[in-house]
Amino acid sequence: MIRERAYPVEPWHVRETTLDMDVLAQSESVFALSNGHIGLRGNLDEGEPYGLPGTYLNSFYELRPLPHAEAGFGFPESGQTIVNVTNGKLIRLLVDDEPLDVRYGELLAHERVLDLRGGTLHRTVHWRSPAGREVCVRSTRLVSFRQRSAAAINYEVEVVDGKPLRLIVQSELVANETLPAQSKDPRVAAVLESPLLAEEELTTHDGGLLIHRTKVSGLRLAAAMEHEVHTTARTNLESEGYEDWVRTTTACVLKPGETLRVVKYLSYGWSSRRSLPALRDQVGAALAAAKLDGWDGLLREQREYLDEFWDSADVLVEGDPEVQQAVRFGLFHVLQAGTRAERRPISAKGLTGPGYDGHAFWDTEMFVLPVLTYTHPTAVRDALYWRHHTLPAAQDRARTLNLAGAAFPWRTIEGPESSGYWPAGTAGFHIAADIADAVRRYVHATQDTDLEREIGLELLVETARLWRSLGHHDRHGQFHIDGVTGPDEYTAIKNDNIYTNLMAQRNLTTAAETVMRYRDEAAHLGVTDEEAASWRDAAADIHIPYDQEIDVHEQVEGFTRFQEWDFVHTPPEKYPLLLHYPYFDLYRKQVIKQADLVLAMHWRGDAFTPEQKLRNFLYYERRTVRDSSLSACTQAVLAAEVGYSELAHTYLREAALMDLHDLNENTRDGVHIAALAGSWIALVAGFGGLRDHDGTLCFTPRLSSRLGRLEFSLHWRRIQLRVDIQPHQTTYTLQHSDPEEALEFLHHGERIRVTAAEPVTRPTPPAEEPSRAPEQPPGRDPLIRLPEREP
Ligand code: BGC
Repeated sequence: MIRERAYPVEPWHVRETTLDMDVLAQSESVFALSNGHIGLRGNLDEGEPYGLPGTYLNSFYELRPLPHAEAGFGFPESGQTIVNVTNGKLIRLLVDDEPLDVRYGELLAHERVLDLRGGTLHRTVHWRSPAGREVCVRSTRLVSFRQRSAAAINYEVEVVDGKPLRLIVQSELVANETLPAQSKDPRVAAVLESPLLAEEELTTHDGGLLIHRTKVSGLRLAAAMEHEVHTTARTNLESEGYEDWVRTTTACVLKPGETLRVVKYLSYGWSSRRSLPALRDQVGAALAAAKLDGWDGLLREQREYLDEFWDSADVLVEGDPEVQQAVRFGLFHVLQAGTRAERRPISAKGLTGPGYDGHAFWDTEMFVLPVLTYTHPTAVRDALYWRHHTLPAAQDRARTLNLAGAAFPWRTIEGPESSGYWPAGTAGFHIAADIADAVRRYVHATQDTDLEREIGLELLVETARLWRSLGHHDRHGQFHIDGVTGPDEYTAIKNDNIYTNLMAQRNLTTAAETVMRYRDEAAHLGVTDEEAASWRDAAADIHIPYDQEIDVHEQVEGFTRFQEWDFVHTPPEKYPLLLHYPYFDLYRKQVIKQADLVLAMHWRGDAFTPEQKLRNFLYYERRTVRDSSLSACTQAVLAAEVGYSELAHTYLREAALMDLHDLNENTRDGVHIAALAGSWIALVAGFGGLRDHDGTLCFTPRLSSRLGRLEFSLHWRRIQLRVDIQPHQTTYTLQHSDPEEALEFLHHGERIRVTAAEPVTRPTPPAEEPSRAPEQPPGRDPLIRLPEREP
């Protein structure tokens, strides 16, 4: 685990001041750079030591068999796994005749800084070689937000011991790197041995290129590099290449005071269809474009891109500097994962590590897209187009399962189901309603009717059809969805999961309402009035399990009478439970991995009364172990809503610090994009009280006693609204708006109209804590303490 405060608290940087080999893999994830298309883990420039080498291209995967000891009809036979592609980050340095390697000689200083406003990773190394020679190396790396296929590294060496020194810089492209062996944790990735077949290698004076292809999925990849050398010393530059590597070498003798600066431009491209020459040209062109801007130009563009992003996405948190840093770190990684994904998936780890084989889950629609909908809506548009692009695979899957419409995969890269486990995988049918809700939310927030017509309608129709065929009416006329798994993966294949039912209900009504507005297009999809009416009926008749005796909703039918989990005799080292107990036992007891009913109370808060929310919250809080990083943010949202603002704050911290403190001890496989997005959700939906159940924007601001102020912006129908919450008052302001623009919404139930000319201020009511204190399962208190109170 990363020690508390491993990264000093700073508002706009994540700084590591010493190199801790024990957490190298974790820091590689934290310091990963990506633009949604290319992902570079924060490996050291010289490649070694490493925790986990990693370079990824969005959707560049290999197929691997999914063996089943006892196969069943419809089990997926192969799965997609993200490939560690050609590594272009490598720059090795020979100091006289000794390689710079932090494990040898003396590391006099080592610092890495992730600059959240600059979009760069800086590294400074002050090293004394075993022979006693001292150098200072400064490198800065970026993956361009503006130029999708480009990355660059500025590498500078200085001699600091006052004597001339011979230096050799070797910059490389390397394919088929050896990866560490796989662990038994099902959440890590499958290791693919040498997945790339060489097709072409080419060198020029100052760079080179490698083209490879995967063996089974048949995808082709090109990686290219070029260098600029800046120094007053006399240098020699040459390149050589082989099947799996290309190397450019710069040699020089540096006098004291002189520096050697090498700028490495990198470009990547891949395709399932384009020919080898076409791909070769593509990466060549991307290099030319990057070089045209030059290093300074790339830096400037990166900064401009981020200035624009922060203008609409930044959140200001007073009273908890750690959360301030963490929420920016989280938003930065969400942006990195989603911004240039351009009709490609946003996976659970972004492109920061191989965890979960690089798959996208429902995390995208229910955690990442809600944040991007209000902060960077164009990225949501692209993500929804990606889902739509996978519709044929989902329709096929539905047919295999004897269902109608589309059965979207629990986990995938390109569309086919890549989950080999039914109960806590494929049976999570709720992903269909999550996708439908992402469409609904995006369309409400942006009024992008083009998207609604082009793809939104079809996604809504095909998911509504799925529910209609998966569910059934009983003899009393109630509509049930049986044998499914909700978000809580410790309660599997049960009847009438409330989250699933309520989200399916909204999916069905939204589909029925949307087909009325696009009659021709709906007719084209074969929707009749009878079919739409059947969706409305199913929605109206949906069964919501409730235990009348103890007055709480049941997460699934019968849940409250399941045997209780023996928390008292479950020692701390047995968590996460999935790694220490058989699934059958988890499935039949009242133990909850992650917010499920509580999540339903967030996204379908309109279906519960305030009293029910409080009673349900208390009941499920006592049984939720938070073995998934997706849980804390939702518990924060509901804790804030029902009045436990201090608990909400603790859960906010747990979500926000998930990776900076490696709370779940698996950051090595990549950062937890959903939890990081969740820190924004905890702040904005928790303390800001943002809801938009029926297309009406609502806020119910209430701060925890530690928070002095919370300020955030939202995009709503092409208007940017700034919300400034202080303990006693909340001010709403329109930003960058035309004078005649106005926005209406609710503040604690009161209708408010804000114009560009007139911000509106209203009281922030004090939070009233309910008399009964919430309890967690024994030993599962929140992982992170509250900050010290300000004097
Ligand atoms: C969670 C899922 C989530 C997946 C990927 C699992 O541990 O239970 O809800 O989709 O991780 O983040």
